[in-house]
Amino acid sequence: MAIETIPFNRPYVSDKELTYVAEAQRNRHLSGDGPFTKRCQQWIEQKTGCTKALLTHSCTSALELAALLLDIRSGDEVIMPSYTFVSTANAFVLRGAIPVFVDIREDTLNLDEKLIEDAITPRTRAIVPVHYAGVSCEMDTINAIAKRHNLRVVEDAAQGVLASYKGRALGALGDLGSFSFHETKNVSSGEGGSLLVNDPGLVSAAEIIREKGTDRGRFFRGEIDKYTWQDVGSSLLPSEITAACLWAQMEQAEQITAGRLANWNRYHEMLAPLEQRGVLRRPIVPSDCQHNGHIYYILLASEADRMRVLAGLKQSRIGAVFHYVPLHSSPAGIRFGRATGGLLLTTSLSERLVRLPMWFGLNESQQQRVCDVLRAILLG
Ligand SMILES: Cc1ncc(COP(=O)(O)O)c(C=O)c1O
Repeated sequence: MAIETIPFNRPYVSDKELTYVAEAQRNRHLSGDGPFTKRCQQWIEQKTGCTKALLTHSCTSALELAALLLDIRSGDEVIMPSYTFVSTANAFVLRGAIPVFVDIREDTLNLDEKLIEDAITPRTRAIVPVHYAGVSCEMDTINAIAKRHNLRVVEDAAQGVLASYKGRALGALGDLGSFSFHETKNVSSGEGGSLLVNDPGLVSAAEIIREKGTDRGRFFRGEIDKYTWQDVGSSLLPSEITAACLWAQMEQAEQITAGRLANWNRYHEMLAPLEQRGVLRRPIVPSDCQHNGHIYYILLASEADRMRVLAGLKQSRIGAVFHYVPLHSSPAGIRFGRATGGLLLTTSLSERLVRLPMWFGLNESQQQRVCDVLRAILLG
């Protein structure tokens, strides 16, 4: 019998996307900011408590919108982890800013809040905490540092939909937050994202930048009788077709999250014996963080072990990947950014991490096979 392939990710498709796309077509409102966009934005506002949610094409474009909104300029410095996706840095580099890379914590792999103040200079404008795997950064400390130094906080909550910190939703903890609805994320429209505006003073400017620098939003709400060019901007809003697909998944977001959490907990149980044998480390989630089952990763003893594990899983037709190649040591990171300290944990942890298959619908026997294969590779 042929051995079953277990993919690393299998994008979830609900039974409602096509129904809602047909409804969007019947509405004859296909461009952005129609009824489906409004529903999705209200959902984010209700779930997170943010002042205003604005759908964007991606988390990348939400971060780019954030950089424009904060008027980040050439030579400004923005503090962020090196252990992140390129978009965290690109959004600010596009404005001529310098990403300042700070090391991560060994437990959560998130920006180490204890190292932030040493990285602050007179040019620092913002801190960008990245909530890796939907596990929150130490936000009370980060916000207190930002307040003391008059800095803005932009949360990269690409992976953080429906996750929380001390009972407060990720994305709604900084001045601005950003979500991703890419097909790899828990809730998806293929490509998609949202900016979460938490500072009420930034809402109107955010709407203008997202609508090509015009006050078209106010015009459509009937607040003004014509719209004009107000400021620098771009076209950052997705069409109603995308929003219709997203709404289908938002309706099921709790169910999807519960399913992923069940998968996460099952891996955690199944892998406990291997952790006890000292051949891997499982994720650590601080007690005040509620994550969303976005990623299950293991940390191995060495890079050589990781290569062995990735090759072994591949041979058994199990999809597994590593995560992020640190930005501070990548060609563009060296060119555009600045590293603070040795970033030793970033280098070491990123070399030893493997992400296991994780998707809504992954079943127990598939997870058992992943763990059996891992066991055979590591102890065999
Ligand atoms: C931390 C982080 N930030 C930003 C992004 C970019 O998201 P998008 O693909 O929606 O632009 C990702 C994508 O995986 C991510 O992991």
